[in-house]
Amino acid sequence: MLISEIGFGGWQLGNDASWGAMTYEEGVKLVKSAYDKGINFFDTAPGYSNGLSEKIIGEALKDDRKEVFINTKFGHNHLNQTDFNVGSIEKSINESLERLQTTYVDSVILHNPPREILEGKTSHQSEFLRMKEIGKIRGYGVSIDTLEDLDLVLNHLDVDVIEILFNINNQSPKILFDKVKDKGILLIAKVPLDSGWLTGKYNAQSNFTGIRSRWDQEVILQRAKIIDKIKAIVHDENLVNTALSFILSFDAITTVIPGVKDIHQLDSNIKSSEFQLSEDIKQKLEKLYEEEIKSLNLPW
Ligand SMILES: NC(=O)c1ccc[n+]([C@@H]2O[C@H](COP(=O)([O-])OP(=O)(O)OC[C@H]3O[C@@H](n4cnc5c(N)ncnc54)[C@H](OP(=O)(O)O)[C@@H]3O)[C@@H](O)[C@H]2O)c1
Repeated sequence: MLISEIGFGGWQLGNDASWGAMTYEEGVKLVKSAYDKGINFFDTAPGYSNGLSEKIIGEALKDDRKEVFINTKFGHNHLNQTDFNVGSIEKSINESLERLQTTYVDSVILHNPPREILEGKTSHQSEFLRMKEIGKIRGYGVSIDTLEDLDLVLNHLDVDVIEILFNINNQSPKILFDKVKDKGILLIAKVPLDSGWLTGKYNAQSNFTGIRSRWDQEVILQRAKIIDKIKAIVHDENLVNTALSFILSFDAITTVIPGVKDIHQLDSNIKSSEFQLSEDIKQKLEKLYEEEIKSLNLPW
């Protein structure tokens, strides 16, 4: 299957608590229209909105199952409990299959697992291989945040899929992208808009609720300053297309999965596929990262 370079981030689906998002019906409609508009990669997790994200995706895509790639996760269950026990893998997959109304998942990835798993010191990999053999999953891998995590995975695990936090404000992992590509791993870029900042619509006065209330005033000011500098480089207030095409300009990336709350956001994200980011702007954004952003160690 040829995976669409613009994918669908499913954390927002039906997720009032974290994202102030949408109803079940609106979610189903949004996922269906994403599919109708050419998106065939969908990211979700049991923990997203207590299983509701998987249910919405399952309902929306059940008639087109074979045409889409569904990636779900393991490690944070639908009750918001963290459970990385090897013995829980099959149960978690079975529950995901039920919510997704399907008999297989294209990939299941460890949802920010503890370091010992990334170091290959546990039997997670052999259990995932068993799940592959019995046909419940087609691939497995990890969702991780940092260059250090990526290095561990490449050195200790043998995965099909890696989902990594990567965007203009978090570029460090790119130095290992060639290795990911050489191994033929499907690389997914999560949080591509830096949780909304890289759309260009937030500034120093912005207030955040839900999952984004994690940022204190200092973090907001730091990010606002950086966003102004990015706007000065691209000469545009709207950064969505620049942010997504920047990520897609790296060969190793298969798909980018912006989280979507409505049809307008969906449409604007899809337009990034046709957007041409100039080499000059890309280089300036890489220079800005090296000289000013990297040392800030911006928290997620
Ligand atoms: N640990 C993990 O595995 C992990 C962690 C995080 C995310 N993810 C996955 O990655 C996906 C993306 O990450 P994310 O959702 O955290 O961050 P993101 O994609 O960087 O930002 C998403 C937010 O940006 C805003 N937005 C998106 N498209 C827009 C557009 N075209 N115009 C204006 N605003 C737009 C929306 O919020 P507002 O309109 O409210 O600003 C949306 O909720 C998630 O949905 C999830 O599937 C996985």
